[in-house]
Amino acid sequence: MSRKIIIANWKMNPLSSKDAEKLFRGVAKQNQNARKTDIVLCPPAVYLERLKKFSRKILLGAQDSFFEEKGAFTGQISPAMLYELGARYVILGHSEKRRLGDTNEIINKKVREALAFGLKPILCVGEKERDENHGYFNTVKNDLEACLNGVSKNSLSKLLIAYEPVWALSSTPDRHDASPKDLEEMAIYIRKVLSDKFGAKTEMPRILYGGSVNKNDAEEFLVKGGVDGLLVGKASLDPANFSQVINICEALKN
Ligand code: PGA
Repeated sequence: MSRKIIIANWKMNPLSSKDAEKLFRGVAKQNQNARKTDIVLCPPAVYLERLKKFSRKILLGAQDSFFEEKGAFTGQISPAMLYELGARYVILGHSEKRRLGDTNEIINKKVREALAFGLKPILCVGEKERDENHGYFNTVKNDLEACLNGVSKNSLSKLLIAYEPVWALSSTPDRHDASPKDLEEMAIYIRKVLSDKFGAKTEMPRILYGGSVNKNDAEEFLVKGGVDGLLVGKASLDPANFSQVINICEALKN
């Protein structure tokens, strides 16, 4: 049984580095006694340096990284730079980045570059909507296979896979909740796709769920959804709400 992990995706928040520090310290203070849960906060990259000095038990992640180490790539930030600023994880393939042009091919290059420089990719996959013919399973399979192309068996356990159906994200208009059953089926399916691709004996990545998770539904996703952790967006901006998600995770029986 792998350790559970709770990851915060702050997206483009908060508005100042002072507020970012306040948020980070608020979470750190409320979770001093957390023992069983890995906690990762992913702020905008510009705040990493300020937060690095507080990062001990709580680890830092970035929200994107580029697929080259350095050079003439205006506006891009490389995994090596993010590592130096304290990031140990990086969210890749998020639907909000896909909407701005990241294709599976680009994400694949980013995943491989991140791994090469010691960042653990949190690879996001998830369908935009569900169809009656269950075509969404194929969407997830295609995304996984394309984004993990050329990734070695040995690297697989350094990755995390976040299943984030776009229709359940808090930023999607007319969103609706996924059920733990929806999630359980998909988590089993993702593990099958990975074991078909990499071999049944390969150490599997941790599978996470993201989609408006908060203190009210975290427990059922963790217990009935069959996942190893959660990727929390909106609720992670409220230290009390986010800390309750962590407390729920801490209180789970293994
Ligand atoms: P949400 O975001 O919890 O606000 O839906 C999750 C994510 O987009 O990673």
